[in-house]
Amino acid sequence: MQVRIRRFNLRRDLQTVLQFQYETYERNFPGFEVDQKFLDDFTRQLRSAAHSPAEQLWILEEDGQVRGFAWGALITSMVDEFVGYIKNVYVSPQARGQGYARRLLERVEDWFRTEGAPKAALDASTCNHQALTLYSNAGYVTRRLRMEKPLQ
Ligand SMILES: CC(C)(COP(=O)(O)OP(=O)(O)OC[C@H]1O[C@@H](n2cnc3c(N)ncnc32)[C@H](O)[C@@H]1OP(=O)(O)O)[C@@H](O)C(=O)NCCC(=O)NCCS
Repeated sequence: MQVRIRRFNLRRDLQTVLQFQYETYERNFPGFEVDQKFLDDFTRQLRSAAHSPAEQLWILEEDGQVRGFAWGALITSMVDEFVGYIKNVYVSPQARGQGYARRLLERVEDWFRTEGAPKAALDASTCNHQALTLYSNAGYVTRRLRMEKPLQ
């Protein structure tokens, strides 16, 4: 099996990466349904990221077939001057459990390091146990929690 990680190509990979978002968003935000408006917004964000020096997108291929995607961005916030933020990680169901997500994460982190970012950060949903295991095994630690309460 030949596995390689290459740069995302907007024209070639857009539709595949959009398909990945159904599971990503519906799994991480229970009750949310990906619709055309979401796909249009996501496409705009991908387009902008593909042309931004502060963002990088990667595709993981297994024997020439697209099996994974990762998206990193260099951001600043009120409390962090410079952070590498992981926006999206996905591996196709048939390719899971082989360390591909871990490899994608490492690729993103390598890029953050070469850009001088002192730390990497991401948001994860508490219902997504696979992702939480992936991130904690890769060295990520929970620093803040987002708390919610239904009002109706
Ligand atoms: C989360 C996801 C990216 C993991 O992909 P993957 O390629 O299977 O992950 P890996 O094989 O690299 O595994 C990495 C770690 O996650 C853990 N893991 C993977 N699959 C798991 C599972 N089914 N149950 C529990 N832990 C799991 C493994 O323990 C592994 O850690 P270790 O090798 O240090 O023991 C994949 O399930 C996915 O794409 N899910 C849908 C999209 C999503 O929710 N993305 C994350 C939020 S943006």
